[in-house]
Amino acid sequence: MSQPTPPALHGAVLGLGMIGRHHARLLQSTAPRVAFAGAVDPGGDRHGVVRDPARLHATIPELLAAGPVDFAIVAVPTEEHLPAVRELAAAGVHVLVEKPLAATEADALALIHAVESASLHGAVGHVERCNPALLELRRRLNADEIGQVYAIATERIGPFPDRIRDVGVVKDLATHDLDLVRWLGGAPVTQVAAQTQHRMGRAHEDLVLATGRLASDVSFNCIVDWLSPTKVRRTRVLGERGMFVADTLNADLTFYANAAMPIEWDAAQQARGVSEGDMTRFALARREPLLVEHEAFCDVLQGIEGDGVAVTLREGLETVRCAEAVLRSAATGTTQSLA
Ligand SMILES: NC(=O)c1ccc[n+]([C@@H]2O[C@H](COP(=O)([O-])OP(=O)(O)OC[C@H]3O[C@@H](n4cnc5c(N)ncnc54)[C@H](O)[C@@H]3O)[C@@H](O)[C@H]2O)c1
Repeated sequence: MSQPTPPALHGAVLGLGMIGRHHARLLQSTAPRVAFAGAVDPGGDRHGVVRDPARLHATIPELLAAGPVDFAIVAVPTEEHLPAVRELAAAGVHVLVEKPLAATEADALALIHAVESASLHGAVGHVERCNPALLELRRRLNADEIGQVYAIATERIGPFPDRIRDVGVVKDLATHDLDLVRWLGGAPVTQVAAQTQHRMGRAHEDLVLATGRLASDVSFNCIVDWLSPTKVRRTRVLGERGMFVADTLNADLTFYANAAMPIEWDAAQQARGVSEGDMTRFALARREPLLVEHEAFCDVLQGIEGDGVAVTLREGLETVRCAEAVLRSAATGTTQSLA
């Protein structure tokens, strides 16, 4: 017998900026699973995404007075995540908080306390986990296609999106990478060393090179900046049987296999270590990552077992902690250990 369809979840969004407008678009188009409860932005609907003007509000109390709200997506500037979540949690609203979870570890802990003490669900919008190339890469890693993983290297470079005011490139962008290496490598970061650059005259750093190790003995390296004249989003996973390369801008996944055939030339074998084998670019089903993220969060709320892309608040905290260790390492010139 088929399961009865659960009632629609009433979902709202806070902040209609660069990312919030996309959340609002999706919340208005995912009926019957989600009913759009409204949007809150004191600056109004600058991008013109809210179809019904009656659903646009300037404050959270106005939103709550307008009808039921089961969950809200918090897409306000990072430093405002904590006060927004506190207000929502006090009203019994589940939260999907944009990444990074909070601007500091202390804020992240206070945010988690607000959600957990109200017995609510929370998740973090590390949307890269929902990119088709990375979803497929992780599925293939879990199927042991590459054997033992040796190293994960990410590259996330490009021009400065002239709107981030409250944090630097480590917390704004590198948190994607720190979450990814942990998720793909299947274990927490145990140590990290980093270098940063401040080249744009802002209070915060605009380039970071971070190198570290996971508890699973995987090495990682992340190159992240707002200084490059071209946009690159690439994740490489090197293992025993070859290397995966995920390009998350184009949602492409390629596998470079080590050659299976023995080389009958000892000198060449020694010099090259591994040899080049076949290269395969996989055909992927490409679904919008933000939609996959919404579905994963709705699964959590409706008690449906998902595929592990919903990022827990504790994982979000771990990533903020790691970002702070990266900044400490860069400031002190020391390798930082994370327990
Ligand atoms: N997942 C991703 O790939 C991704 C991409 C971009 C941004 N983000 C994250 O999303 C958050 C927002 O970033 P953005 O680039 O969209 O910022 P933005 O500056 O473009 O937009 C923020 C919006 O929030 C509104 N706002 C401010 N305070 C508010 C409040 N108390 N209540 C309701 N609205 C409020 C502002 O008026 C503005 O419209 C940040 O945490 C950022 O790190 C995530």
